[in-house]
Amino acid sequence: MSRPDKHDLSTLSFNTLSVHGGNEIDKTSGAIRTPIVMANSYELPYDPSTMDWSDTESPSYTRNSGHNQIGLQRKLAAIEGGEDAAVFATGVAALHAVFFTFLKSGDHVIVGDVTYEAVWRLFSELLPQRYNIEATFVDMGNTDAVRAAVRPNTRLIHTETIANPTTKVADIATLASIAKQAGALLSVDSTFTPPPFFRPLALGADLVIHSLTKYINGHGDAMGGVVIGSKPLIHHIKADALVDLGGTISPFNAWLIMRGSVTLPLRLKQQFSSAEIVARSLAADKRVAYVTYPGLDSHDQHALARTQFAGKGYGAVMAFAVDGDPDTQNRFVAHLRVITSAVSLGHDESLIVHVGGSGRGGSDRYPPNFQKYGHLRLSIGLEDTEDLIADISNALDETFGRS
Ligand SMILES: Cc1ncc(COP(=O)(O)O)c(C=O)c1O
Repeated sequence: MSRPDKHDLSTLSFNTLSVHGGNEIDKTSGAIRTPIVMANSYELPYDPSTMDWSDTESPSYTRNSGHNQIGLQRKLAAIEGGEDAAVFATGVAALHAVFFTFLKSGDHVIVGDVTYEAVWRLFSELLPQRYNIEATFVDMGNTDAVRAAVRPNTRLIHTETIANPTTKVADIATLASIAKQAGALLSVDSTFTPPPFFRPLALGADLVIHSLTKYINGHGDAMGGVVIGSKPLIHHIKADALVDLGGTISPFNAWLIMRGSVTLPLRLKQQFSSAEIVARSLAADKRVAYVTYPGLDSHDQHALARTQFAGKGYGAVMAFAVDGDPDTQNRFVAHLRVITSAVSLGHDESLIVHVGGSGRGGSDRYPPNFQKYGHLRLSIGLEDTEDLIADISNALDETFGRS
């Protein structure tokens, strides 16, 4: 009896896709997991002289395409519900690939007023100064403001589903309809909200970007990025921003991310439910100055988050501060024993970082509480929830004295 075709992913449910998507039985060794192919080059046909050296479909040179990248792209497109995907060395390389491919001098972009730092600098400094690309930074929680910012030369609206670090939530369906009316593309950095939790393409987004470094790999041991969308848009990105700019992921990292992503749905379930409990526990403690997390009633877009994420959760990243000056924040972090002080998020272990009151570009783009106290960005990992709550409670006791 012949086995089912491993390439046909269309009928599979999410957990099954996470296990089998993009994986193949190796024809040479019979290994049931795709091996790492650490080759820069692949065998050429008898007459290579007529080949398209920019081809990204069949492997010839690993900068364009390789065995492990192809498998990972197939899997990520399938789990996000897109036609195709382009993987890169980092999340920032994937973001830049979108901006480089679809923007040219004289174009206008609407960007969330809170975005990952690299995107902020790209649109506030590098792209305007070097390429005459104009950006308007808008509160993505205010869709009227987004509509009002549209100009005849607006080519792209770029947002994060849940913004890093303020956790502001964007209304993706409304942004998609604004982009369509404007004849612009909507690109969504969905790093905080991976599938199956949320799928922006289903709500009309054109492109979805993830830092694979975060939840999709999930183990804090590899960097990567992906853009997912229609075949023509992804082909354009590969042709312009992969083949001729580089930024290719290593086969080893692609393999690690394939392996890490097998457990994505199980990890998200645990992390998201744990985060809700931790956020509520922080909010109930008088020694905590504020907590911002979309799952709390106090969050400005809690109602939108509840509808948009269809009751599946609110992510596992929150921002908060303890009641005190910057050194009080540092002392609190120093007393944590389970939660690790380190940048990044979406790892198996809980991570916290004291970021201070302002990011690049000054503090006024952050809410008043952030400006007053600074903020601690907390990414909830896979530890038992009670251990995380006990760790926070002990650190608060050590910082403020037992209450
Ligand atoms: C929302 C978001 N997008 C993109 C990135 C960049 O990803 P990478 O560090 O893989 O380049 C990050 C990194 O923290 C992020 O939080």
